[in-house]
Amino acid sequence: MKSWADSLSELSLTKKSAEEVDKIYSAFDIIGTIIIIKIPESLMEKKESIANVILQNIKTAKSVFLQTSAVQGDYRIRNLEFLAGVNNTMTEYREHGCRFKVDVAKTYFSPRLSTERLRISKMITDDEIVTNMFAGVGTYSIIIAKTNKTARIYSIDSNPQAYDLCAVNVKLNKVEDRVIPICGDAEEIIEKNIKGQANRVLMPLPEKAREFVDCAVSALKHRSGIIHYFAHIKAPTKKLSIPIGMKDTREAFQDYRHEILATRVVREVGPRIYQIVADVSITC
Ligand SMILES: C[S@@+](CC[C@H](N)C(=O)[O-])C[C@H]1O[C@@H](n2cnc3c(N)ncnc32)[C@H](O)[C@@H]1O
Repeated sequence: MKSWADSLSELSLTKKSAEEVDKIYSAFDIIGTIIIIKIPESLMEKKESIANVILQNIKTAKSVFLQTSAVQGDYRIRNLEFLAGVNNTMTEYREHGCRFKVDVAKTYFSPRLSTERLRISKMITDDEIVTNMFAGVGTYSIIIAKTNKTARIYSIDSNPQAYDLCAVNVKLNKVEDRVIPICGDAEEIIEKNIKGQANRVLMPLPEKAREFVDCAVSALKHRSGIIHYFAHIKAPTKKLSIPIGMKDTREAFQDYRHEILATRVVREVGPRIYQIVADVSITC
């Protein structure tokens, strides 16, 4: 099999362009059999050739797509352009012993949250009721259910395709007795059907979580429990995103008696923008 360097030389790139292709190679997302790449404008002419070279070098990959927009809209989806291999956006992704059917064009999905999913799932204590307000295809919900066999999880998403896949994934992982997929707006669903039940609430919608704080508190039993609050924080450095994130969290929960138990940086999502998660204890 050809080495990466041999494959690159076939593209007849300048030294600078070869370095840029190296960057693409080291920063793509791999989701099951699908690779999603970002390409700088200077290399757009060679996008198909670059995709083919990547495909040749990653044995498990079957398709390469170009990301042509940021993650956007209510459903947090990115636009994709097919570049090489098989033109199929459905795949199966495995994480922490769980299997997930994912449609990368129709639902949100990021393999970069794997550590955070495991961290939260290990915090769950016996018999907890968890409300996952923004569940996507069921990643957090299913990993929690597999990690703690007594936990019960309401798994809400407003994207019907994410809900459908969550229902498929719940069966695939044999947790249908304890993970309940629900399709709809989290605020409406909680208000009408599952208010005051949860011991813990997950808010993995960092762009907008702050708008849903009252609803998250109302989901808690006796308005007491733990909320995992996600936010995007602008900060000059990663280190400073923690105190700035804590200030943002304090403001978000100022109407409630609360204590921030921990704050951590999940990942950098843009230049000087960090996704943070705060574990917030609420007492009524
Ligand atoms: C950033 S994604 C997170 C998905 C999942 N937790 C994960 O980590 O893969 C946010 C999800 O929230 C859903 N969403 C956005 N607004 C919503 C709302 N008002 N109610 C319920 N779900 C919503 C989107 O469809 C999307 O799937």
